[in-house]
Amino acid sequence: MEKDFKLMVAPLQGLTVAEWRRVYFDMFGNSQGLVEYFTPFIRVEKGVVRARDLRDFTSDLNKGMMLTPQIIFKDAEEWRLLVDTLAEAGAERVDMNMGCPFPPQVKKGRGAGMLSIPDRVAEIADEMAHYPEIQFSVKMRLGVNDPTEALALAYIINSMPLRHVTIHPRTAKQQYKGNLLLSEMKEFSSMLKHPIVFNGEIANPSDIDALTSDYDGVMVGRGLLARPSLFAEYHSGRELPIKQREEAFLNLINNTSSLLEDRLCGAAQLRDKMKPYWEYAPASLDKKIVKIGKKKGVIGSI
Ligand SMILES: Cc1cc2nc3c(=O)[nH]c(=O)nc-3n(C[C@H](O)[C@H](O)[C@H](O)COP(=O)(O)O)c2cc1C
Repeated sequence: MEKDFKLMVAPLQGLTVAEWRRVYFDMFGNSQGLVEYFTPFIRVEKGVVRARDLRDFTSDLNKGMMLTPQIIFKDAEEWRLLVDTLAEAGAERVDMNMGCPFPPQVKKGRGAGMLSIPDRVAEIADEMAHYPEIQFSVKMRLGVNDPTEALALAYIINSMPLRHVTIHPRTAKQQYKGNLLLSEMKEFSSMLKHPIVFNGEIANPSDIDALTSDYDGVMVGRGLLARPSLFAEYHSGRELPIKQREEAFLNLINNTSSLLEDRLCGAAQLRDKMKPYWEYAPASLDKKIVKIGKKKGVIGSI
């Protein structure tokens, strides 16, 4: 384990929500060193910041953890509205989404769509000078269709006051599958002056070990859903037996569903909310349990 190497929980819309983060933090917050959490993206809808997105950040569930809200925006106007609203709500840091590959967002210039509009990114870089009290970071891909697109943004990103840049080395066209474009990522990150955080397909402590010399940190999404003890294992330098990892997966699901029950209306809503977590069940878990989980959302402990 390298000192000062940053560990971050990736934002996953509908999955790493406040309740999940609370339960995950209660389970592992004390055994994995300092970990930074990010909210799923907070967006503007019909000219205002979506109240439920904002609540996911401001809810009092997340006391004690280092939580950074993430925003998605199509232009400087949306950006300002989001940053002003978050600053008012007490945010000291803001992460900027320039990587969401969802076509309706990309088409409007949000998320990865921003990568092909350098002028708009430059406008936002200018805006940042008016918010010296906020620490910004960027989460991005290498392009929409072509991984060299990001290269044209390097000088603008270097002009931004950033804590770090998280890079998912794929294009938006690849969505969340296909080869990681590692040499393209190396080329792009060598042009940046900011600390670089690697994001993509990290599943085991050894995957993290392999990144510590070249990067300043890792951000993990699906790998943590499948193996919630991943950072704790990396931090302690000791892998947990498979059985204990499976138990952690099941406990995280069960406890998250107990917290969500208070917020959601009825069993059907809870079931729909919990089902997606089962898509990330560890490969070792009994297939029968996974099948029931996918159907019912919650199954209790094994
Ligand atoms: C269901 C789902 C929802 C996601 N929501 C967000 C989001 O709100 N903001 C964001 O920056 N990335 C989002 N991502 C991307 C992840 O943060 C991450 O970049 C991606 O999953 C690759 O990392 P991983 O291989 O560790 O999962 C999402 C990904 C998935 C699969």
